[in-house]
Amino acid sequence: MPLSAEVIRSLQPYDLRVMRTLERLMHRFEWVPLDDLKTATRFSGSELAYRLGRLIGRGLVRYEKVPYEGYTLVYAGLDTLALRALTSRGTLRALGTLTGEGKESVVYEGLGLAPVAIKLHHVGQRSFQSVRRNRDYLPDHTNSSWLQASRLSAEREFGALTLLHPRVPVPAPVAIDRNAVVMDLVGGATLNRCRLDDPGTILDEIVAGVRTAYRLGAIHNDLSEFNVMMDGERVVLIDWPQWVTPEHPNARAILENDLGNVLAHFTRKYRLNRDLDGVVDSVVG
Ligand SMILES: Nc1ncnc2c1ncn2[C@@H]1O[C@H](COP(=O)(O)OP(=O)(O)O)[C@@H](O)[C@H]1O
Ligand SMILES: [Mg+2]
Repeated sequence: MPLSAEVIRSLQPYDLRVMRTLERLMHRFEWVPLDDLKTATRFSGSELAYRLGRLIGRGLVRYEKVPYEGYTLVYAGLDTLALRALTSRGTLRALGTLTGEGKESVVYEGLGLAPVAIKLHHVGQRSFQSVRRNRDYLPDHTNSSWLQASRLSAEREFGALTLLHPRVPVPAPVAIDRNAVVMDLVGGATLNRCRLDDPGTILDEIVAGVRTAYRLGAIHNDLSEFNVMMDGERVVLIDWPQWVTPEHPNARAILENDLGNVLAHFTRKYRLNRDLDGVVDSVVG
């Protein structure tokens, strides 16, 4: 269910207090027991029941009976807290339409001082096993919650954009709160949805971006035609949460995989053939 600005605006201070308390207690509980929530909010039983009813009805909080009775924020609840915070800081003035939905994020258009993209990281419990494999920065205990993982993913991405912008063509970072990264809105579409007039030049620009990023200390680690956008004639490399440094023990293989994905796309779509080893050497050399 997409987030609605109306729902976000309709929340009252007491609703938000319940949500923030839940968020805090979720560091200790996967499902927060009613009694703990009651103690922490200092609300009466009826007030708390009323607030929880409103939040559950709006799809921001969930109640489960198993493994024991308790309450938890869901992604929409975390997203809402982040968007409220960004709004009250003045970073965000309006929430626009949903523009992208990936494996581990949803991206909205919005308005800050200029048009922005708001990427809400949703690193899930359900997909945790598969996530784990290529995200070895996650803390090493099995019940690391989706909430922490999503926040960490946002921090990682914001860190990369801060490191790389403006020397590498990436979206300019604007702000971060919880699992939400606010960045410049890129016009256009990802490579898989474009037909390029001059694919050779564009491929050179992508490789140059990968090279500069490498020099600055970042290897993308999920590069492909789905994570390169064309803003008119300009290349923009997006989607950085899983980046690694050149000191990573598998750095060379990761770089080969990134560049291999891109070269394979240009071969398939434009019959352009480049030698992978040569391109990788040009990046690390
Ligand atoms: N800065 C941006 N400006 C415009 N659209 C964006 C921006 N960042 C992401 N998108 C859109 O959202 C989609 C998903 O974003 P991405 O960062 O690739 O996340 P995921 O990990 O979910 O693939 C992209 O394919 C793109 O269409
Ligand atoms: Mg992507």
